Amino acid sequence: MFKRFHQLYPADSMASDQKIYRASTTAPVNIAVIKYWGKRDPTLNLPTNSSLSVTLSQSDLRTHTTASCSSTYRKETPEDSLLLNGKLEPLTTPRSIACLRSLRALRSELESTNPSLPKLSTYPLRLASSNNFPTAAGLASSAAGFAALVRAIADLYELPQSPTELSLIARQGSGSACRSLLGGYVAWDKGSRDDGTDSCARLVAPKSHWPEMRALILVASAEQKSVSSTAGMQTTVKTSGLFRQRVEAVPQRMLEMEKAIREKDFEAFAEITRKESNSFHATCLDTDPPIFYMNETSKMAIRAVEAINKEAGRTVATYTFDAGPNCVIYYLEKDWDFLAAKLDLALDGKEGWSKERTSDAGGLGVGNERVEEGLKN
Ligand code: ADP
Ligand code: DP6
Ligand code: CO
Repeated sequence: MFKRFHQLYPADSMASDQKIYRASTTAPVNIAVIKYWGKRDPTLNLPTNSSLSVTLSQSDLRTHTTASCSSTYRKETPEDSLLLNGKLEPLTTPRSIACLRSLRALRSELESTNPSLPKLSTYPLRLASSNNFPTAAGLASSAAGFAALVRAIADLYELPQSPTELSLIARQGSGSACRSLLGGYVAWDKGSRDDGTDSCARLVAPKSHWPEMRALILVASAEQKSVSSTAGMQTTVKTSGLFRQRVEAVPQRMLEMEKAIREKDFEAFAEITRKESNSFHATCLDTDPPIFYMNETSKMAIRAVEAINKEAGRTVATYTFDAGPNCVIYYLEKDWDFLAAKLDLALDGKEGWSKERTSDAGGLGVGNERVEEGLKN
């Protein structure tokens, strides 16, 4: 008797696909003015409160990520891998696995509806990523990092999903990353479903709505923080009484912030921003053991901004600090000369400040490209 084989494919099946598929992208950081701090579901990265941020332009701070896959990688490195700033990082954390699994599932759907597509979902992935700004120092590297990771793989897989749909995936990598998939003024609605399918990014206003907005970043320390955002917020949720009050206050602040942005009311924007930052850092201090993200240099920046506004007799600038000592100052373009001169006087020559950069509210995906490299061998 002959053994029978069914459904034999011609020679261009998976096994003979020797190509290397590659896609690159850049992603911006976003700096929250209503802070995300606390998870109601740590596995799905579902937050205890909604948040809102400004996506900064990529001219200054950005992540560049290249994703590639090939059946030929199976022989050399069968595991998925990430080279972050030149160092091999495990892609085995539950958050990375969740992102890769979701992206592969979407690619696999495409492949099953179109069998002529190469089976990229089954190939090992190699990612190479670099941040041109301090990593894990409170400048939203996890946001730009996971936004870039998701975007690069989505491009590699030629996925048709919208940025909002991809934000659901990026959220599982790092909560704040969902907001970096969109440009301009972006909310992350906490959502109410247990499966997290309504916890995603929403455009509040495009950059063009308020083009005068600027951000200035004062780098107080490029050192890696001692308590990661993930670990810090978990301890806050468990131990801080102030945190529970904060969670109740945030929804009203969200409404006020959206109104301030809609009406381009800088005075209101500035007041909510600085109060939010201080409220967030107060809950960090109320955490047991206490978390100190700001340092003496950070406080110097706060004092300088408060003094500048007082001297001007109006609100020229506002400040916010993420989970780190570095300061982000929001201001309107027309006030740059005044602000820069006064900040120079207040901070220049003072120990601690090393760099400053300016950015406007920008968007995602400058310089995307996708290639299929010819046959190997
Ligand atoms: P930050 O304040 O910089 O967002 P976090 O503590 O939230 O700091 O996250 C830092 C972590 O984010 C890093 O240790 C790394 O695991 C991840 N990360 C940072 N940059 C990237 C990147 N480009 N690609 C993938 N992951 C990244
Ligand atoms: C202070 O998004 O970095 O920057 O979801 O655990 O990765 P994980 O945390 P992450 O937390 C950001 C905290 C924040 C505020 C914010 O960006 O909203
Ligand atoms: Co982060």
